[in-house]
Amino acid sequence: MTFQNTLSVVKLEKADLFRQAAFIGGDWVSAASGATIPVDDPATGALLGTVPDCGVAETDQAIAAANAAFPAWRAKTAGERAAILERWHALVLDNVPDLARIMTAEQGKPLAESEGEIRYAATFIKWFAEEGRRASGHDVLAPEANRRIFVMKEPIGVAAAITPWNFPAAMITRKCAPALAAGCPVIVKPSDFTPYTALALVRLAELAGLPAGTINVLTGRPEAIGSALTASPVVRKLSFTGSTRVGSLLLRQCADTVKRTSLELGGNAPLIVFDDADLDLAVQSAMISKFRNAGQTCVCANRILVQDSVHDAFAEKLAKAVTALRVGPGDVAGSTVGPLINAAAAQKVQAHVDDALSHGATLYASAENGMAYERFVAPVILTGANSNMLLASEETFGPVAPLFRFTHEEEAIDLANATEYGLASYFYTDNIHRAFRVAERLEAGMVALNTGTIAMEMAPFGGVKMSGLGREGGRAGLEEYLESKAFHIGGLKL
Ligand code: SIN
Repeated sequence: MTFQNTLSVVKLEKADLFRQAAFIGGDWVSAASGATIPVDDPATGALLGTVPDCGVAETDQAIAAANAAFPAWRAKTAGERAAILERWHALVLDNVPDLARIMTAEQGKPLAESEGEIRYAATFIKWFAEEGRRASGHDVLAPEANRRIFVMKEPIGVAAAITPWNFPAAMITRKCAPALAAGCPVIVKPSDFTPYTALALVRLAELAGLPAGTINVLTGRPEAIGSALTASPVVRKLSFTGSTRVGSLLLRQCADTVKRTSLELGGNAPLIVFDDADLDLAVQSAMISKFRNAGQTCVCANRILVQDSVHDAFAEKLAKAVTALRVGPGDVAGSTVGPLINAAAAQKVQAHVDDALSHGATLYASAENGMAYERFVAPVILTGANSNMLLASEETFGPVAPLFRFTHEEEAIDLANATEYGLASYFYTDNIHRAFRVAERLEAGMVALNTGTIAMEMAPFGGVKMSGLGREGGRAGLEEYLESKAFHIGGLKL
């Protein structure tokens, strides 16, 4: 089929990367009904193009294609799979500028951040290509002299990956690369807000030589596709990144077919600044953690807890950094904070700010927002935040930095843990004893001391409590796609 490049404002070096079709069994296809959904540019609301609105029929086709591809893909050696993944990795790196332009057009983040995300996404392909070669089992000492027990690692089967709009590339490679490296074909359902990055990545996977059916992309509204994927007994694994509400719904849907699930869900990360912290480092990291992607990350600092004696100095330094942020379209040089994904997201942020102000917070500092379009939101610092405010218990998912004061360590830990979520926690101290005391008591899947970055290919990423199940990245990320089969051999004549 032919593709019309309607990305009129985005010039690509390879127009071929912009695809307005689903990818099933190695073919670029429309929905059988011909239905499509629009995709817009969050910086203007302008139409970028459409993608097929796939439903149950297309999902069933993708499941059948993945299932048909499974025997040959699992039969390849780990080295053969790795070679294809290495080619995919190289192609992604060769096309960073185009992939970043597509991402900025549909997601809104500044081009520099999009380029950073593409490089970050590529690290998962490389890491899991290598890690797949080490997916070996082990032997176990048996209770009888004439018995041997081997634990064999096998691919779990067809995997489904439902991915969010905030990281349109990295969340795909963080799921697909381990699945493919382990020998599992995969079906991706990217967010309907950001399908084009996914389709471009998969076009490159096709060019890298991934066999038909090993990677499939279903575009469209999530409900029908999600229900068909979770209901299918052929799909043995679901990996989802998104809200806790949808994650728990998918978990319930997966129960009937007893699927393995990895769920990376909501967060409400505390960032604690103790009085013995390096304040410049704390400010620098808070800026990364809080304002990357306009605050639209599950791991971003939602609550900034600052010890009394350094509160004012920290607030002043943070204000200097926040007022230097530049709100603007992602493709305009100098923009550091792009639009939020849609009007509802911007309204939620405003509701959190209004609620905090009505409960006694003060607007301490704000970056300028010269953009009239409703999805642009000014980054702000609020002081005097307290637990009665919505932003204390809900994920704001926007560029709002609320400062809570505390007086002693115990109080900070209690405040930090006073949430149903447990994804990321950050804290700043130069005291080694405090570092261990606090790290061991924070209820989170990831704890960061004196750094604002925790997401990288070699480390496990995931949460506790309502923040999810399972881990992505690192060794654990590969294990999520492997079964352990115990092979017992008895009656050996030795
Ligand atoms: C997320 O928002 O959960 C993803 C963060 C990341 O991988 O950088």
